Amino acid sequence: MAQPILAPSILAADFANLQREVTMLNESEADWIHVDIMDGLFVPNISMGLPVVEAVNRYAKKPLDVHLMIVQPERYVEAFQRAGAANISVHVEACPHLHRNIQQIKSLGCKAGVAINPHTSLSELENIIGDIDLVCVMSVNPGFGAQKFIENTYRKVSALKAMIRAANAHALIEIDGGVNQQNAKALLDVGADVLVAGNFVFSASSPKDVIAGLKAIH
Ligand code: DX5
Ligand code: ZN
Repeated sequence: MAQPILAPSILAADFANLQREVTMLNESEADWIHVDIMDGLFVPNISMGLPVVEAVNRYAKKPLDVHLMIVQPERYVEAFQRAGAANISVHVEACPHLHRNIQQIKSLGCKAGVAINPHTSLSELENIIGDIDLVCVMSVNPGFGAQKFIENTYRKVSALKAMIRAANAHALIEIDGGVNQQNAKALLDVGADVLVAGNFVFSASSPKDVIAGLKAIH
């Protein structure tokens, strides 16, 4: 099995020392930098906005994986692309015109991702699975870092992997929420390609070692 793509979530970083945190990620084995955007409407929390993403992008040497937890994401997709996003994921629950949203993201030259809440059925993805680059499977309810991993995620990921294979699609499966050294191997075994980790990385005394440890699982 291939090594996972590792995407530390900057939400758990020290915002008063963002440049230092981004430099640490540049020097680490991290592949992408996961950026959580929350609007206080789609989710109960507000995280960061465009100026912070621009600031991260000024120092980041790795692709920004932007996770939009916002209503009407089509209003902001272009601004996030300009701020430096390489991947943009929108929530299926926030997008009545999801196919159009995906086309918009791709037309800007970004990789298109779709994020899916823990309770949402995979059938929502059936008709667009061939059009997307990434499925962000929420393994916690979106809105906060450092929550407990939802065990049903394993079942969901293996069903999603089967759906992707059956459709001959290329979408990567990303797991977002509560990922740690204990559940990472089992997630890769059922088909995960990308692991997001916030609290587990940034609360460690040596985040770089934790990142290397997660990268070494396969
Ligand atoms: C949750 C966010 C996650 C979060 C993950 O709404 O989408 O990306 O930052 O953080 P941990 O790994 O701490 O659960
Ligand atoms: Zn996220």
